[in-house]
Amino acid sequence: MKMRKADVIIIGSGIAGLYAAYLLSSKKKVILITKGKLDHSNSILAQGGIAAAIGKNDSWKHHFQDTIIAGHYHNVEEAVRCLVQNAPKIIQQLIDIGVTFDRDHHRNLELGREGGHHNRRIVHAGGDSTGKIIIEKLIKLIKPHVTIYEDEMVYELLTHNGNCVGVITKNMQGEYFIYQADHIVLATGGIGRLYPISSNDHTITGDGIAMAYRAGADLIDLEFIQFHPTMLVHNSIPFGLVSEAVRGEGARLVNQKGELIMEGIHPLKDLAPRDIVARTIYLSMQNGDQVYLDISIIKDFTKRFPTISKMCETGHIDINTGLLPIAPGAHFIMGGVKTNAYGETTLKGLYAIGEVAYTGVHGANRLASNSLLEGVVFANKVAEYIFMRPKKNIRRDPMIPQIQKLKLSLPEIKEIQDVMMKNVGIIRDEASLLFAKEWFEQFLPKFHSNMIIDLSFEEITRLNMVTTGWLITTSALKRTESRGGHFRKDYPYSNDEKWLKRYIVRRSEENEFNQVKNVTSTVLH
Ligand code: SIN
Repeated sequence: MKMRKADVIIIGSGIAGLYAAYLLSSKKKVILITKGKLDHSNSILAQGGIAAAIGKNDSWKHHFQDTIIAGHYHNVEEAVRCLVQNAPKIIQQLIDIGVTFDRDHHRNLELGREGGHHNRRIVHAGGDSTGKIIIEKLIKLIKPHVTIYEDEMVYELLTHNGNCVGVITKNMQGEYFIYQADHIVLATGGIGRLYPISSNDHTITGDGIAMAYRAGADLIDLEFIQFHPTMLVHNSIPFGLVSEAVRGEGARLVNQKGELIMEGIHPLKDLAPRDIVARTIYLSMQNGDQVYLDISIIKDFTKRFPTISKMCETGHIDINTGLLPIAPGAHFIMGGVKTNAYGETTLKGLYAIGEVAYTGVHGANRLASNSLLEGVVFANKVAEYIFMRPKKNIRRDPMIPQIQKLKLSLPEIKEIQDVMMKNVGIIRDEASLLFAKEWFEQFLPKFHSNMIIDLSFEEITRLNMVTTGWLITTSALKRTESRGGHFRKDYPYSNDEKWLKRYIVRRSEENEFNQVKNVTSTVLH
């Protein structure tokens, strides 16, 4: 098996991974591995922008408050403070590397508004192409300095004496590689494609969470899943996201009778936090209503929202009718691989940044346009921390795993998505969660050894989806309340701000999570 070495290995090519690669490559040998192409990520699809309290009557304290309220008081306050206080600096950093944000006639940054924000504070680029503009810039910057492997999938994290020391990968030609490094940074994104309608790139299948779990890192808050209220869905076919910024410019949610569906639901109406809007739309649709976004109030829609206009064209949706057909879709997971303030996980040598990480900033429901921000803030933190660490001696004699041929029984991707949506979706209860738990358990391999099963890209993806689906379901069963992105119809909405239990999924614990201890033979220790 071929061996490659670096100081730092970064897995994933969203904003967090690319920005960390950009910073770290100034002093370290960095390898970046991505299972698709460099420009396959959720970040490149991000329309809205980056939240930063830079408006006239705004302050980080207002941004802090909006983040905590949207998060249903489940956030880690210190982490939120770090996020919102750093936001203006992050915008400046991005400007300094050449990102061109939209400006008004006076050359001031244009500020949009999105759900849960009481102020205009969303900095955007190219109208609704913020992610694309930032990612293209970062790719250009890192290419000369970082060794990049595309179309290569990380199958497993390699551990030795309680340290993460490398990864094992497979490329499209079926070749396996061992990578060794002092620092392994997970930046693989979230879990959106575990659901049938999702705003996420097709590569986002919970791989990082499944791998971190198998390697023994703690996971936390996996039950909190955010559904974006407005995916463009026509004749049951999803065409992509309709940014919340559209409602920020005055669009309203209506049913087929033209009734305003957010009226009387929340003081912020159409700009209420996402969990509330998504649930209201979902319930309307369950009652047989069609829900639309009425955009007729927005002048020059195609100029302000070129990406969405193009999506409508692709879906043969006439924007001149003023009505866009929408439905909620899986968007973001608030929990993830547990990290400290510097992105360090509980497994030494392993870091997590971006959506795969739990930093505590989002609580039970993420505030709009806080995710690109989180990616850059914690890429900075992880780089700062790695620069301070003394160089370790990379293990020279890594265990070379055996590759075994074995047939696993795994469900199809569509089956996994349907089970998740129906049972672990916007509204759950004990019966639905128990059904999903048992369904997943029939596919979890019941053996354990220090070997690699020779799986195809597609099979390892399905194994990761089954593992992550099972972990989310089991976490959701444990949380016997409704809060933010975890709504159980058998438990009331919790208003108690002090009731902040967090369920850490610890692989070493003797609890039911241990059932997936044997999830795969691809575990190497
Ligand atoms: C949006 O533009 O509505 C999505 C932005 C986000 O998820 O923060």
